[in-house]
Amino acid sequence: MGTVHNGGMMIRFEHVTKRYPDGTTAVDDLSFEVAEGELVTLVGPSGCGKTTTMKMVNRLIDPTGGTIHVGGENIADTDPVELRRRIGYVIQQVGLFPHKTVLDNTATVPHLLGIPRKKGRERAAELLDLVGLDPTVYGHRYPDQLSGGQRQRVGVARALAADPPVLLMDEPFGAVDPVVREHLQNEFRHLQRTLGKTVLFVTHDIEEAIRLGDRIAVYGQGRIEQFDTPAAVLGAPATGYVAEFVGADRGIKRLSVTPVEPGDLEERPVVRLDDPAGRAAEALAADDASWAVVLDGEAAPYGWVPAAALTGDGPDGATVRDHARPMDATLPVGAPLREAFGALLGHDAGWIAVLDEGRYAGVLTPGGLHAALRRATSADASRTTREAVTLETVPGA
Ligand SMILES: Nc1ncnc2c1ncn2[C@@H]1O[C@H](COP(=O)(O)OP(=O)(O)OP(=O)(O)O)[C@@H](O)[C@H]1O
Ligand SMILES: [Mg+2]
Repeated sequence: MGTVHNGGMMIRFEHVTKRYPDGTTAVDDLSFEVAEGELVTLVGPSGCGKTTTMKMVNRLIDPTGGTIHVGGENIADTDPVELRRRIGYVIQQVGLFPHKTVLDNTATVPHLLGIPRKKGRERAAELLDLVGLDPTVYGHRYPDQLSGGQRQRVGVARALAADPPVLLMDEPFGAVDPVVREHLQNEFRHLQRTLGKTVLFVTHDIEEAIRLGDRIAVYGQGRIEQFDTPAAVLGAPATGYVAEFVGADRGIKRLSVTPVEPGDLEERPVVRLDDPAGRAAEALAADDASWAVVLDGEAAPYGWVPAAALTGDGPDGATVRDHARPMDATLPVGAPLREAFGALLGHDAGWIAVLDEGRYAGVLTPGGLHAALRRATSADASRTTREAVTLETVPGA
């Protein structure tokens, strides 16, 4: 996956347990690590311990066992107030102050940090802009004058206001409809990549977990059942519970998280529009190929030409152009397989031309697509043997 981080560990849970006084074990012997700049989604059913996990990171709850490090520091030894300055927190249900304007809500943390009011409000305006809310339009409204999706954006802007390296987000997009939600997810993912924040993101929605996470922690009751990349969780669920949780359509979901790579492409004979038809026919015959990819110039795909169309005595001076058939479905390297699959179906074609930095690189066929899915699963499964993490890992795929 395209994770941008420098390899440092930002959050580390070691054998963390939280038992409430009434005997409820909310979290049981939890161990995992989140790298700097990584976005990890915690997903699981209601009551499985997600919020408890989050609140232990900023010491709203203290564990009854085990240790938690943030940025290399054991948080048991830190001042909770100081710790929380480094950690933005977006809570379940947003929690904006109803009597404060959007701008003042966003500037809350800078204000608490003693940043001068004018500077804090300038920063707040920048952040509102960053999350797609024009501060001149929305800055002076009150929370009840916003849509649910807009309120959630304010929640994100407010959490970013102190520029914390770590963000905890507890179902931040829970209250919006699926369309707005997908939009917010995409924007947030882009924002997080740009800003390089380390994020723990709670959701009970597996689609959201897959779409956002560099890695996913799938929770059972108070325990992590599997902690891995979306492709590995979908491709090689560690337990029956995980398989059931991610759903029977996990094969389809995997198409969304697996990119087309150059190694997945098939080589076909290549001819050019201006090649003489006779020479093209010979090239095809030499390869014993029934069709060739046709390029317009050096590297731009034009379409294809069947060998049969090139045989027979064409008029003198005929070129490939006279027989070529356009095929405008192309995809860049790195596009998700789901897009490739959609293009294959949409064009009713057996192949798609794939471009690498704008140049024709090869064709993707249904066979290549299948191989790519297998490749993604085995690569991810082999990466999961992190000795520092005492979690269930993926059995050989
Ligand atoms: N103060 C408390 N005292 C006793 N039990 C608690 C307390 N707070 C939470 N719990 C229990 O701990 C378990 C985990 O709660 P938590 O809030 O972490 O769940 P969650 O995964 O965030 O659920 P949801 O998806 O519904 O938000 C639940 O069984 C809950 O009832
Ligand atoms: Mg919760």
